[in-house]
Amino acid sequence: MTSAIDDRIWIFDTTLRDGEQALRASLSKKQKIQIAEAISRLGVDVMELGFPASSPGDFDAVQTISRSIKGPVMCGLARAVPSDIQACGEALQYAERKRIHTFIASSPLHLQYKLRKTLQQATEQAVASIKLARQYTDDIEFSCEDAGRTPIDDLCYMVEHAISAGATTINIPDTVGYTIPAEFANIITELKNKVPNIDKARLSVHCHNDLGLAVANSLAAIEAGARQVECTINGIGERAGNCALEEFAMVLATRADSYRQHTAINSNEIYRTSQLVSQICNMPIQPNKAIVGSNAFVHSSGIHQDGVLKAQNTYEIITPESIGMRPNQFNLTSRSGKHVIKHRLSELGYREHDYDLVSLYESFLELADKKGQLFDYDLEALVFAQSLQELDDPYSLTGLVTETDSQGHASATVQLTCHGKPRSQTASGNGPVDASYNALQSIIDQPLDIVSYQLSAKGSGADALGQVDITARYAGQNIHGIGLATDIVKASAQAYVHVLNTAARAAQVRALKQHLQAEVQEQAS
Ligand code: KIV
Ligand code: ZN
Repeated sequence: MTSAIDDRIWIFDTTLRDGEQALRASLSKKQKIQIAEAISRLGVDVMELGFPASSPGDFDAVQTISRSIKGPVMCGLARAVPSDIQACGEALQYAERKRIHTFIASSPLHLQYKLRKTLQQATEQAVASIKLARQYTDDIEFSCEDAGRTPIDDLCYMVEHAISAGATTINIPDTVGYTIPAEFANIITELKNKVPNIDKARLSVHCHNDLGLAVANSLAAIEAGARQVECTINGIGERAGNCALEEFAMVLATRADSYRQHTAINSNEIYRTSQLVSQICNMPIQPNKAIVGSNAFVHSSGIHQDGVLKAQNTYEIITPESIGMRPNQFNLTSRSGKHVIKHRLSELGYREHDYDLVSLYESFLELADKKGQLFDYDLEALVFAQSLQELDDPYSLTGLVTETDSQGHASATVQLTCHGKPRSQTASGNGPVDASYNALQSIIDQPLDIVSYQLSAKGSGADALGQVDITARYAGQNIHGIGLATDIVKASAQAYVHVLNTAARAAQVRALKQHLQAEVQEQAS
């Protein structure tokens, strides 16, 4: 088996699973598809798409994405229990290449308090699950949860049995981000030395960033012989997150002299993918974040600026171009034609099918009339705003008029199309956003509680586009809604309507699942 495992480091992306599970509100199917397409363009080897047994929405997203994306291995997560493995196998049934990733805890702490099982019992459960998973695919990944805090002999015991049962990838998670690099490298070395059948599986690592060491631990692990690294875009994930894909990949690309390992990551796609994930997941990137932060290539000190002008590499170890940032040669104003917009968007990494040029151009002209000159972030915001709408959206905001008196009392009249029918309501409130939300609330019949409201500017200046992100509790679920407009009251109302559309779509998926389950039961009886 060693010969089959080459020296290339496989990148296993778990943005849509470990990353998504840490968001305040789950993503819609459309948002997951957008992220999945971008991640697949990055050239990852494996994509973990979700946890199919966790909800009908996750099942549906894993099934849809794994059916449509070709190239990377499509993976789903399953606890080591039969119902999870079955759900995962079914969700992946149409994938060109599929993997079931099953896991159980191995550390004394988790075994005693969480599972109330002995190591032997947990290992037997893992073995049974791997054997069941092999009925769906030959590509099985097994993880010993909390491996970082598992005594090495216990870990070797579980890993050896998992490989004998048919696991082809063994993943060693530092679930709580507790390990330090030398220690983590030693775990990999010990596994390689002590587990007799270890060469029958690819060794993988999955590091959390609680001590800020996820990338360092992953690098230490590959030096010790791990050949797959689990990452997320921008390092999003549980608590302090996971190993950041862009950081890990760029270390290997920049320091090939030291590591002598490579990945298949197309670094030109890094910037755009990072922006997209940040935007869709509502997870801003800290300005000083390595590789993709807005300051990562900005030189402030006069000495540095002077140095970079004389020779770029005096203070720059990687170029912005190498991660896909392209300088703009054109001034974008209302005089710019459609072809210039299309050209710039393609330089920014968008493909024609990512947006509708005709309606995008209309929004571009409308915004250019208000702002004069537009920048890349405006263009990207317009594409993003367009991507929030779907042709079959049951709700759309068709009108909004607000009035506020000098005491801050406001009234709003909202026009909403609901399933093709025009509706209108006027309400008052503490300020125009509150009034428009009260008007919207009186049109819909289910109560919608706003759990969080966040306003941010896309770009700089008083005329910047405002983005409103809300999390709303609707029919027992947390739903994320986004609105983008130069007028923040309009952006707020759009975010509300976005929540209504996402909720309506989730309800359709639930109803379809229930209908299918009822049909299966009827056929069985
Ligand atoms: O952090 C962890 O242990 C995990 C496993 C499911 C791999 O995410
Ligand atoms: Zn994890």
